[in-house]
Amino acid sequence: MLSSKKSVLGLCVAVAAAVALAGCVQPTQEGTNTAGGVATKRKPKGPGEQVFIGFSMDTLKEERWQRDKLHVEERARELGAKLDVQVANGDDAVQTKQAENMLTKQVDVLIVAPHNGEIAASIVEAAHRQGVPVISYDRLIRNSDVDLYVSHQVVKMGEMQGEYAVKHAPKGNYVLIGGSPTDNNAMLLREGQMKAIKPAVDRGDVKIISEQFAKEWKAEEALRITEDALTKTGNNIQAVVASNDGTAGGAISALEAVKLDGKVLVTGQDAQLDAVQKVATGKLTMTIYKPIKPLADSAVDAAIKLARGEKVEAKDKINNGKLDVPAILHEPQAVDKNNLMTTVVKDGYHKYEDVYKDVPPDQRPKQTVSSEPRASRTRSVVAAFCVLLFGAVLMRRKR
Ligand code: BGC
Repeated sequence: MLSSKKSVLGLCVAVAAAVALAGCVQPTQEGTNTAGGVATKRKPKGPGEQVFIGFSMDTLKEERWQRDKLHVEERARELGAKLDVQVANGDDAVQTKQAENMLTKQVDVLIVAPHNGEIAASIVEAAHRQGVPVISYDRLIRNSDVDLYVSHQVVKMGEMQGEYAVKHAPKGNYVLIGGSPTDNNAMLLREGQMKAIKPAVDRGDVKIISEQFAKEWKAEEALRITEDALTKTGNNIQAVVASNDGTAGGAISALEAVKLDGKVLVTGQDAQLDAVQKVATGKLTMTIYKPIKPLADSAVDAAIKLARGEKVEAKDKINNGKLDVPAILHEPQAVDKNNLMTTVVKDGYHKYEDVYKDVPPDQRPKQTVSSEPRASRTRSVVAAFCVLLFGAVLMRRKR
């Protein structure tokens, strides 16, 4: 009886401990650093010591990655961390080499936006051999013991694209254009898109004409896929569910050639400038807005904690084929013509003049105070206050 009470108590303690640890990332155990041929241990950084972060990026091709780089640099500076950024330009061998170099330079933690989610597993292994934790950034590193995943809710983004398409083009022929097959995000997006579109296919309302993936997320690939679908159907397409703005751009070029731009629903993702300009003119029907600053900030904040051996709060998790990786997943937002002003413009993600550059002035939405970016609003208030103060001082002097 006593022993069964004890084991119940033991179980309770174990459960309580598990509950307390759930959602927390434990930093990688100390490992052996063989850099320079000398075996040294990477000790967690103390509170006063500077953390050295390595940020390995696949590409800067899309506008969003330039923002990622900028915000990661900004946050690292703010928090006094040293940062090394390397960009592999879509080459796996280069990305692996660059990550190895950063490990040789004794980074305390790696943030990796992988070109190929499978191949990058070797970067995690190399880092862990040196006791260096790895954060998978935006794209998941598969089949590895990666420590943390920081991204947006990618399946939800796919669902948003699919739902939007089914709501606004409920019947007809669809073209699905996925992203790079080496990018796990491309798979997650397709999963989300199909969740929303499959019921319409099952009802017989929607027919999928083509469901391919665009190598390297290339616009030219999307153009070819859309052209083929147009030829196959005699230009009878109602929706192109493109997975990002770049591929949406390729699809729009194909539609322009047969004067169907603005008539066929096209989805995108990233809310990059040329895409929101197309949303404003109606050539692109919707895109997904995923603010980059919170993503970059959370990655740098987590990197510093992991390097210091502190726990990181991670509410979500995602399976990478080997384990459930603790994850921090930020909220995306669907954007179309109706909410451009209250999302990307209001947040100052893009400037009003830039977004509506191709829209005649009399057809642009009114720019209200609340649609000004917050920072410029604050500046206006401060300026107004200064003018009042100056006026008051002058009046007193006159008297
Ligand atoms: C990112 C997208 C980007 C695409 C192409 C994806 O993994 O989530 O934002 O457009 O890669 O670089």
